[in-house]
Amino acid sequence: MSQRIYPSILSADFANLETELQRISTADAAHVDVMDNHFVPNLTLGLPVAERLQQVSPIPLDIHLMIENPERWAPGYAEMGAFSVTFHAEATAEPVALARKIRQIGSRASLALKPGTRAEQYLDILGEFDQILVMTVEPGFGGQKFMADTMPKLRLLNDARKRLEIDVWLQVDGGITADTITAAAEAGADTFVAGSSVFGGVPADNIATLREAVRAHGGH
Ligand code: DX5
Ligand code: ZN
Repeated sequence: MSQRIYPSILSADFANLETELQRISTADAAHVDVMDNHFVPNLTLGLPVAERLQQVSPIPLDIHLMIENPERWAPGYAEMGAFSVTFHAEATAEPVALARKIRQIGSRASLALKPGTRAEQYLDILGEFDQILVMTVEPGFGGQKFMADTMPKLRLLNDARKRLEIDVWLQVDGGITADTITAAAEAGADTFVAGSSVFGGVPADNIATLREAVRAHGGH
């Protein structure tokens, strides 16, 4: 199974985002955290900035919407050509309708679950998504500690996708380092977001280190 490394530009230099994207060009995609100061207590960037990132990025964009009312905004990110658009389960009553809209426009549709959100209720609709993001920290800030107690949720989703024979990717985001990535890979994650552990130091070297760590421990 292939495994993907997505650096989060939340830890990049926001005054030089084009250069920062060049520094992570060996990664599989760039993870872009959109925060609205309502769904999470932090504010980052929105559609106009993401559109420019899409124009200059050497790698695909993986948009993570930590916002209220994703129905209003998610389609715009798909229309600008984002590879993948993630919205939060806690922010919408109609996840299937929104996922279908994102897919119809042409992006991969992804559903994020905060650490306290159970996965059981989404198992019957797993086939509606291209990716499930299991948050491994409380969303809002980079540089937090990996929450190992989210691993049973990842195992549950991994078992379900195998049983149902669905090709849905399992992404983890928060506190991923060369030390924690192996636990996430062993629990079934195949797509790894890492912010501070990539941009703290030389990004290309850190991406290679993460790839090596995850390859050594294999996937499921
Ligand atoms: C947190 C964001 C993450 C963040 C991860 O709410 O969704 O993408 O950038 O940062 P690290 O890897 O430093 O935990
Ligand atoms: Zn994120």
